[in-house]
Amino acid sequence: MKYGVFSDVHGNYEALRAVLSFYRKNGVENFICCGDVVGYGPQPLECAETLRALKGLSIVMGNHDAALVGKMDLKWFNLNAAWAIDFARTQLTGQAMDFIAGLPERLETKDFTLVHGSPRKPLTEYVLSESQFADNVKGWTVSPCFIGHSHMPLYFRQGETGIPEADFLKPAVKVPLANGPVMLNPGSVGQPRDGDPRAACGIYDPEKRVFELYRVFYDVEATQKLMAGLKMPAILSERLSFGF
Ligand SMILES: [Fe+2]
Repeated sequence: MKYGVFSDVHGNYEALRAVLSFYRKNGVENFICCGDVVGYGPQPLECAETLRALKGLSIVMGNHDAALVGKMDLKWFNLNAAWAIDFARTQLTGQAMDFIAGLPERLETKDFTLVHGSPRKPLTEYVLSESQFADNVKGWTVSPCFIGHSHMPLYFRQGETGIPEADFLKPAVKVPLANGPVMLNPGSVGQPRDGDPRAACGIYDPEKRVFELYRVFYDVEATQKLMAGLKMPAILSERLSFGF
């Protein structure tokens, strides 16, 4: 059984549709989402409803999701991010809102652990360094631990000498996972920040213990047109062209 692993959709429905279509073409029927369904993008309702209906999905709450439902104060967000969360509050009602409100902060299955930020701070920590990985390493038992939040495709592990190591994940390179604790970030579907504007997503094969990152083209301009129509902050739209 393979898992499609993705994160930080952020209301970008064009990107989400492209990623789910990519998974369908590759026969992937189980999914892992590391949180942040809403925020930044123009179609938070469509993203929430699509994920609510997605069979075989394991998903946790991100910090933008938490802010949407009042679990985090908007003071922790910059003005543009707060604008988009306020906008999402006008879009999501009923079952879509209940879906986001009911997301757990952490999940553990026989195949993986799942949090948005980090095991010790599921909603707030950006794991970007080897030392942060090392500081978290006792916080989960089932590896890999999938994370999101930073929007950067990253792979953390303990090297043969026990010293923590980190690499950027490159597209279309099969990564055999190291023994011991391993942390993986599949990058962002809806707002990549690693200089590649294509949607990022991954496929995890627990039997072979292999993870592979992919980049999927989507109609960036279609998303940007919707954002312009909604008069969303220009920077949120412009950054999608560059993936920063
Ligand atoms: Fe995010």
